[in-house]
Amino acid sequence: MNAASRTRLNQLPEWTALGKHREQLGDAHLRELFADDPRRPEKYALQVGDLHIDYSKQLVTDETLALLRDLAATTEVFALRDAMFRGDKINTTEDRAVLHTALRAPRDAVIEVDGENVVPDVHAVLDKMGAFADKVRSGEWTGHTGKRIKNVVNIGIGGSDLGPAMAYEVLRPYTARDLTFRFVSNVDGADLHEAVRDLDPAETLFIIASKTFTTIETITNATSARDWLLTGLRAGQDAVAKHFVALSTNAEKVAEFGIDTANMFEFWDWVGGRYSYDSAIGLSLMIAIGPDRFREMLDGFHLVDEHFRTAPPEANAPLILGLLGVWYGAFHDAQAHAVLPYSHYLSKFTAYLQQLDMESNGKSVDRDGNPVEWQTGPVVWGTPGTNGQHAYYQLIHQGTKVIPADFIGFAQPVEDLLPGLVPQHDLLMANFFAQTQALAFGKTPDEVRAEGVPDELVPHKTFRGNHPTTTILAGELTPSVLGQLIALYEHKVFVQGAVWNIDSFDQWGVELGKVLAKRVEPALTEGAEVDGLDASSRALVAKYRALRGR
Ligand code: F6P
Repeated sequence: MNAASRTRLNQLPEWTALGKHREQLGDAHLRELFADDPRRPEKYALQVGDLHIDYSKQLVTDETLALLRDLAATTEVFALRDAMFRGDKINTTEDRAVLHTALRAPRDAVIEVDGENVVPDVHAVLDKMGAFADKVRSGEWTGHTGKRIKNVVNIGIGGSDLGPAMAYEVLRPYTARDLTFRFVSNVDGADLHEAVRDLDPAETLFIIASKTFTTIETITNATSARDWLLTGLRAGQDAVAKHFVALSTNAEKVAEFGIDTANMFEFWDWVGGRYSYDSAIGLSLMIAIGPDRFREMLDGFHLVDEHFRTAPPEANAPLILGLLGVWYGAFHDAQAHAVLPYSHYLSKFTAYLQQLDMESNGKSVDRDGNPVEWQTGPVVWGTPGTNGQHAYYQLIHQGTKVIPADFIGFAQPVEDLLPGLVPQHDLLMANFFAQTQALAFGKTPDEVRAEGVPDELVPHKTFRGNHPTTTILAGELTPSVLGQLIALYEHKVFVQGAVWNIDSFDQWGVELGKVLAKRVEPALTEGAEVDGLDASSRALVAKYRALRGR
């Protein structure tokens, strides 16, 4: 649909109908909704691959879901989805295709960008990564002095860090435990310092991950890592070849840095940074878990891609989860979304989703450049479950904010858990189930009184309940399940961006800060005058210089 013929989201009859429906629902409580419809757990649950997705504890009825699907239909979510899978340039502000789904397409698939099938290139890079990963894992790839590589340090930031760093943590039980993996992202020298201080340069491989190979944090850290290596080895530039590889779309810059482009693993401009860890950006992960496990993960992604591409709206999990987010933002004034994994291995999962969701949908103009008049992406936050219970869950249970939450848990503990620790898994999961029940159904003043609580404490011990949650339960946390989970969230974010009519694939909002940082640096180091530095910042810079003894 072209811009001229597109009706503003909040002027659509489907939007108005949702608003009216919201008024009619009023404060309907999940207790009533379950009493009225005891079949909610069967009706509002989906099985997608290994993921059992239960959204019965959401503040919706059949009518809400039907109206949300109408909204999806009128906003052409599926037309845009098909355009994405086809390789159309749906990232209009950067004139790029959005084809992370091609990264996990089977070898015989045909997906064209500008008339060229990209799938053979994807698999050629995966094969090259596999051969390299095997060499490092087996010890065949040695460093400059002939020593075996024992440490792998990924240097990257944003999408070139969060994905592999998260997935390495998630899949730790599948990793080569005799290798050490570190992830450096922050331009604060402390990050690199702590990552390398106990490593032997002769045994260390640096993976420089940067789509553009111009990101200042990454290039600065990579340069410092090269200095550390060459100083430690007392070697010349020729040592770089055995200790540095690059993951990038920019061969010219990689060569300029001094990395042999034979040791570069390529990806393409149609892979967004935050959608890239299943591309060459996943090399550190592939070395950690091996090429076969990596491919299992890709198959998991692909399974959910196919589900999203083909499942009907009423059984399409990313569509439903995406629409629920639209519902809460627009009609419940929710500003945030919590993702609460009940697995220690998912400790970096929510941080990863922050970039995926907030860099994608943190926009305030629509695809036609008009200001939006509706909520777009939420603040995504959360940490592993039981820790959160003793920190911020208080606010979710009894605070004043609406915070829809996803609970993610697994029936089986990981395979290599010490046998003595296995019984703890049921305790972990008892908390998982208890929390969603408490959030949904709460505790009424009468129930509190019945426990003999004095009247003056009753309001304090009452739980209003009615806090919406989705429960995602899987048998086991495997590489495939991780791929399924990530693809589920990728497509959920896509759906929301499509409904909100925003470009979920650009990130212009990060540019201004980058440009200003470049201008401010000489003011810090040389005391140079910076054009356009505001009075507050000028005073702070002066204070900083004084504290630095300059
Ligand atoms: O934060 C902006 C951003 O462009 C992200 O989208 C990206 O993942 C990150 O910087 C790193 O970029 P690059 O991989 O080009 O170094």
